[in-house]
Amino acid sequence: MKIPVGGVAFLDSGVGGLTVLDACQKIFKGEIFYYCGDNARAPYGTLPPDLIRRYVEESFLQFEKLQVKAVVLACNTVTALCIDDLRTKYSFPIIGAEPAIVSAAKGGGEVFVLTTRATFNSLRFRELCKRVAEKYPNTRLQLYSCDGLAGAVEEHLVDVIYDFTRFLPRGSPRAVVLGCTHYIYIKERIAAFYGCEVFDGNDGIAWRLSAELLRCQGNKSGQISNSTQKSRDGRPPDEKDGKRIGIFNHFFPKKTHKKGKIQKTNKCSYIKTTKSLIIRGVASKNEVYFLGSGAAKNKEFYEQMFTF
Ligand code: DGL
Repeated sequence: MKIPVGGVAFLDSGVGGLTVLDACQKIFKGEIFYYCGDNARAPYGTLPPDLIRRYVEESFLQFEKLQVKAVVLACNTVTALCIDDLRTKYSFPIIGAEPAIVSAAKGGGEVFVLTTRATFNSLRFRELCKRVAEKYPNTRLQLYSCDGLAGAVEEHLVDVIYDFTRFLPRGSPRAVVLGCTHYIYIKERIAAFYGCEVFDGNDGIAWRLSAELLRCQGNKSGQISNSTQKSRDGRPPDEKDGKRIGIFNHFFPKKTHKKGKIQKTNKCSYIKTTKSLIIRGVASKNEVYFLGSGAAKNKEFYEQMFTF
C-alpha cells in the first residue's frame, strides 16, 4: 500500500494518542492522518529522557519522508520533553498535548494532576504548574506521577474488570486533570473513583490543530487575517474565519445562530456563545494510516473503539 504524503501525523508511545486522533476526527473532514504509535516500546513515561528523545527523533525521520503538514504530539510525555527542541529543528507546525490545568484551576480548591514520571519530572510541566498556581491562588495543585498506569492501560484496556484505581492517589479533590493521553481511556472510571469532574485536553488539541492548519492555508494563499491570527491560541475560530478561508465551510450550517442555543443538524451540533461558535460532532471522513511498531494493534483498537 502506498501512503500518500502531506497529511497530519499523530505521535504517541502507544494507544493513548488514539483518543486525540478521535477528537480530531470529529472536527476534520477530508484530511489524511498518520497515527504513529510505538506500542512495542511503550510506556515511554518511565524511560530515561534521552531515550525518549531518541525514539521520538526516529518517528520524526519518518514524518519528514511523508512531508507532513503538521505533527500532533498526542502524548504529554513527549510534549514535556521534546516539543521545544523539535520546534527549533522542524519547520512544520508541531502541536503538543499539555495537561488542561488552567481549565481545572479556575474553579479553585484541590486539583489533582495525574501524569507519567517523565512529565512529572520535566521542567516544562513544573513551569506550567507554577504559572497556574500564581494565577489561581485559591487552587491547590497536587501533582502525582501514576507509575504503572500508562503501561496497565496499554495492556489491559479491553479487560473490563481490571482495577486501574490501584495506581491512583487517594484523596477527595474538587477536580482531576489527566496529564497523560493513556489515562483518557479510563476517564469515566477515574471520575467515578473520585466523584468529581475530570479534565482532559483533547478538544483543545483538536482546535489548536485546526487553527494551525487554517493559519498555514492562509499563509499559502496570502489570505491570513487578524481574525485568523486570533484563533492561534486554540480557541475555536469564529464563523467569519471559516467563511473567509474556506477550510471550515463544511462545519457551518446555513442558518444564523441564536446566542446560547444548541442547534443540531443530522451531522453536527452548533453552540453559539457570546464570543464564539463551538461546533461538535462532524462525521468522520478522513483517511487514517497506522504506522510505528504498534500499527496493527492501534488499527485494531481504533476500529473497535471508535467509528471510522
Ligand atoms: N500517552 C503518553 C502521555 O500522554 C505516554 C504514556 C507512556 O507511554 O508512559 O504521557
